[in-house]
Amino acid sequence: MSKIVVTGRIPEVAVERLRAEHEVDAWSAAEAISREELLARVAGADALLTLLTERVDAELLNAAGPQLKVVANVAVGYDNVDVPACTARGIIATNTPGVLTEATADVAFALILMATRRTGEGERVIRSGQPWKWGMFYLLGSGLQGKTLGVVGMGGIGQATARRARAFGMDVIYQSRSELAPEVAAELGARRVELDELLATADVVSLHCPYSPATHHLIGAEQFAAMRDSAYLVNTARGPIVDEAALADALRDGQIAGAGLDVYEHEPQVHPGLLELDNVALLPHLGSATVETRTAMANLAADNALAVLAGTQPPTPIEK
Ligand code: GLV
Ligand code: GLV
Repeated sequence: MSKIVVTGRIPEVAVERLRAEHEVDAWSAAEAISREELLARVAGADALLTLLTERVDAELLNAAGPQLKVVANVAVGYDNVDVPACTARGIIATNTPGVLTEATADVAFALILMATRRTGEGERVIRSGQPWKWGMFYLLGSGLQGKTLGVVGMGGIGQATARRARAFGMDVIYQSRSELAPEVAAELGARRVELDELLATADVVSLHCPYSPATHHLIGAEQFAAMRDSAYLVNTARGPIVDEAALADALRDGQIAGAGLDVYEHEPQVHPGLLELDNVALLPHLGSATVETRTAMANLAADNALAVLAGTQPPTPIEK
């Protein structure tokens, strides 16, 4: 029997599966665990199930101790995990790819529609009690049909977003480290381009790349200047890929038409300049937030932890 520490609330079915085989210490309070509490609790753990709000660094791994075998992040993005520090200690780090692809693409598309059709703005008008009435030129947005979606980072979520764009009658271009398989490119009608061309061409730019030092502020003042003034930016990936202060400037100065964000540079803070603007739709990081998806993520993280503790290959290690 091993000791598993679960650092935040996750769906109970996954906790029960862990409990069936091991001793489980699961943080169950509604508020996130404090760093001090976390460092104390992980001592002696053989496995950690972690949330994206926890920093898994050398300090935390050392606090756990040399018996720690697996860090199972309950997220696809793993910028919160120091993977080299895990590898150096012989700890296997895992994430949850695949299971949140459709849910996140749904929210990317929701943001595309919120930004281009000004639906958040419209909802705010009603709730504010301001008078309103139908008008030929009232809250006019921008249609998507015949427009071009530019996908930055064509992994599972980028492809799922592109598939939705096709159904809306959009053309798709993408920038990615690797070329799509020919049959997938054909299905999506997607053409691979350099980032410069994508920014200059796309009517909607949607970010789906991982966050790493290489993508820090990938989209900043220079990139906003390169975009069309009628274009929109959507970010459901990670906040720091976008220079948020530069985004606020670009939106205020009309360098781009609008934006939709689910993630923030200094989460949960939102740049105050963005809060003042009507042409940006703001959601509180809920890309994967469906009952089905969160359950699947927790179960996949549990599968990963249980596999490593049983001495077998985990289904989704970060480094293959
Ligand atoms: C959510 O943001 C995730 O990376 O799973
Ligand atoms: C991400 O691209 C995924 O496969 O979930």
